[in-house]
Amino acid sequence: MEPELTKKERCMLNGECGEGKRQAMEILFALAKIYGAKNMVPITSAQISGVSYKTIGDAGLEYLEDLARKGTKVEVPAYLNPIGMDAQGWEEMKVPKDFAQKQFAILNAYTSMGANPTCTCTPYLIGVRPKVGEHIAWAESSAVVFANSVLGARTNREGGPSALCAAICGVTPNYGMHLDENRVADLVVDVKVALPDRSDFGVLGAIAGGIARGRAVAFKGIKKADEDMLKYLGAAMAAFGSNSLFFMEGITPEWKIRDGAEKISVDKPEMGRMRKTLDETKEEDIVTTGCPHASLAEIKEIAEMVRGKKLKKPLWVCVSRIVKEVAAKQGLVEIIEKAGGKLVADTCMVVSPMEEMGYKSTGVNSAKAVKYLPTMCQQRVHFAKLKDLVEFEGAGKEKVRKK
Ligand code: F3S
Repeated sequence: MEPELTKKERCMLNGECGEGKRQAMEILFALAKIYGAKNMVPITSAQISGVSYKTIGDAGLEYLEDLARKGTKVEVPAYLNPIGMDAQGWEEMKVPKDFAQKQFAILNAYTSMGANPTCTCTPYLIGVRPKVGEHIAWAESSAVVFANSVLGARTNREGGPSALCAAICGVTPNYGMHLDENRVADLVVDVKVALPDRSDFGVLGAIAGGIARGRAVAFKGIKKADEDMLKYLGAAMAAFGSNSLFFMEGITPEWKIRDGAEKISVDKPEMGRMRKTLDETKEEDIVTTGCPHASLAEIKEIAEMVRGKKLKKPLWVCVSRIVKEVAAKQGLVEIIEKAGGKLVADTCMVVSPMEEMGYKSTGVNSAKAVKYLPTMCQQRVHFAKLKDLVEFEGAGKEKVRKK
């Protein structure tokens, strides 16, 4: 059966609302048919991936410029994922000039359609926090898990083009995570180990995601988890298992388990084995953190860690521009820069051309970054807790660890 369309949606599909909207609705209508959606659902925001020149290349740029030339505009607030460079510090980052030019052209195309150049994978850290039950169309996989699981909003894991089409039309096909019947866990994970560090949540996410393979997961046994920990967990689950939703007993707003759901437990030895698997090398040219983009709380911790010291290796803290500006006002950027680190805004270690900047190995505390750095940036990866990655002049890692 064909999805039912409202008068306005039909107008968009017929081309009466402009060529850009016609193209966008045609894609949404096709997706609705493929996934058996009965109708479209209005959304309150879109978050669009595929913004880095590195990931979409010339073909993506041409597609966006064509849509922009047709006068296409977004219907709802639309936020952009990270681009391939710091828009204000790309020369200092040694990003090739031709890359930067193409990257700015992509940004121009999006902003001329009305998208907000937030350039972050953590819109929820800059005030974009849809409420429980609110329908949205977000594309960045880690943000999708966070929105569904931690905020209780409803979004499928959109691709860059489908999120853009949803932004242009203000609706998305009503299937999957938008429906009550799919927001049920099929895998229960009893966590029998303490998770004191954010990277531990990434390790758990890699284990649970790999087993769940897209099924929603219900976690038991975790006493305390702040939003940053949940951010690292969801990002790893999305990277290792294409997950879009988890529940955590007593912590997340939803909790529903299907009768007959699979039950497993995760203990200390299993966590240790996964940690070893993720850690490929003990050496790195650069240490990067902020995958997903760092919160103000993380930046404060880093500033405390490096205050008055000199870093042995470059340190990137990947962050949204808005959070960087707040951190700068609080003097945190200055502390980190004095130590030799950088708050790199608008981009991240994965979507920037790190391999072209001369880096061959990267230290990270994010399991998601471990998954993508080898393939997208040809990096060897040292995975560890941040405090064990950061080294200072005149002090080895051991000395720092004992502090
Ligand atoms: Fe964000 Fe880049 Fe990680 S987009 S989730 S920091 S790979």
